[in-house]
Amino acid sequence: MSNFDRANHKRTEPIHKTQNGFDSNKSDWLLSNNKYSQKKNLGNAKTISISSGKGGVGKTSLALKLATILSNDDYRVLLIDCDFNLSNTAVKLGLPVTSSFYEFLIGEKTFAESLIHLGKLDILPGCNGHFELLKKHFDLERIIIDVLVNYENEYDYIILDSPAGLTKETLTLNAYSDYRFVVVTPDKSSVTDSYSLIKILSKEYGVNHHHLILNQISNQNQFQRLVTTFLDTAEKYIGCRIQVRGNIKKIQGDIAVDQFDSQYLLKENNSFHENIQEIVHHFLREDENLMPSISLRRSSGLNAKL
Ligand SMILES: Nc1ncnc2c1ncn2[C@@H]1O[C@H](COP(=O)(O)OP(=O)(O)OP(=O)(O)O)[C@@H](O)[C@H]1O
Ligand SMILES: [Mg+2]
Repeated sequence: MSNFDRANHKRTEPIHKTQNGFDSNKSDWLLSNNKYSQKKNLGNAKTISISSGKGGVGKTSLALKLATILSNDDYRVLLIDCDFNLSNTAVKLGLPVTSSFYEFLIGEKTFAESLIHLGKLDILPGCNGHFELLKKHFDLERIIIDVLVNYENEYDYIILDSPAGLTKETLTLNAYSDYRFVVVTPDKSSVTDSYSLIKILSKEYGVNHHHLILNQISNQNQFQRLVTTFLDTAEKYIGCRIQVRGNIKKIQGDIAVDQFDSQYLLKENNSFHENIQEIVHHFLREDENLMPSISLRRSSGLNAKL
C-alpha cells in the first residue's frame, strides 16, 4: 500500500509517521531491489534527470527550458526541483518562494496544491532555507519516487532538476530515470565532477548509459576537444555509453544571473533557446522512434493542437 491517497492526490499520513516501516509499496520494492530497469511497467512518462555533480553549470536553466519547450510542443510535463531546500526554479521564473513542498511532505497540502501551473507544464518547486526541513529526517528519494510511481500515467515527461553534489538522493533518482542528461562545461572541475557522477552510477547502480550536453561552449574546436576527451575517458576507464546530445553556446559578455534569466532563459529569440530547442527536437525524434506511445497518442488527436 502506498502512502498516497490516489483519489485526493494527497499523502495519507505525514511522512514522519510513515517513514519507519510503512507497508511495502512500489517505491519500497524499487529502492530495496534496485530494480530500476523493471519500473517501465509502472507508467507511461519518461523520466529525464538533469545532473552534473558540479554546481552552477546550467542544470536548472536547461531543465526549465527543456520543460517549457516540451510543454509548448503539447506534451504533458512535470518538472520536479530536486534541490529541495535551495530551490531556484520559482526565483528564476520571478514567482514567490513558498513552503508548499514542505507542506506537501507533512501531508498538509495535496500534490496538486503544491504545484505551479504554466500551461501544460506543472512544476513541483522545492523550498528555500526551510529550517523544519533540515531538522526532521525526510526520506526524499522515496518521496519523489512515490510521486513518480503515482503520476507516471498523467505526464509524458517528468524532468528532475538535480542539485549540485553527489548525494544518495541524487544518485538514486538518476538511476531511476529513463534518461540522464549530464551537463558539462569546459571547466576542468565540471569534467571531473561529471566523471565522478557517472563512475558511481556505473559501479554502485549498474547504470551505464548517459546523454551529454555541453554548456557554455565558445567555439566548435572547444566542443570537439571536450567531446573527444569525455568520451574516450568514459569509455576507457568507466565503460559507459555516452550519447552526445549537443551543445549550448556561451552567451558572451559579463551577464549577471538575473539578466541571464530575464533576457535569455525566459525569452525565445536567442541562441540559448534555439540551441536547447534543437537538442530537444533531435532527442524527441529518437525517443518517439524508440517508444512510439506518445507519438501515437498525439497523432490520434487526443492531446494535439496540430
Ligand atoms: N550558455 C550560457 N551562457 C552564459 N551563461 C550561462 C549559460 N548557461 C548558464 N549560464 C549562467 O550560469 C548560471 C547558473 O545557471 P543554473 O542556475 O542553471 O546552474 P545550476 O547548474 O542549476 O546551478 P546549481 O548547481 O547551483 O543548481 C545562470 O544563471 C547563468 O548566469
Ligand atoms: Mg540548479
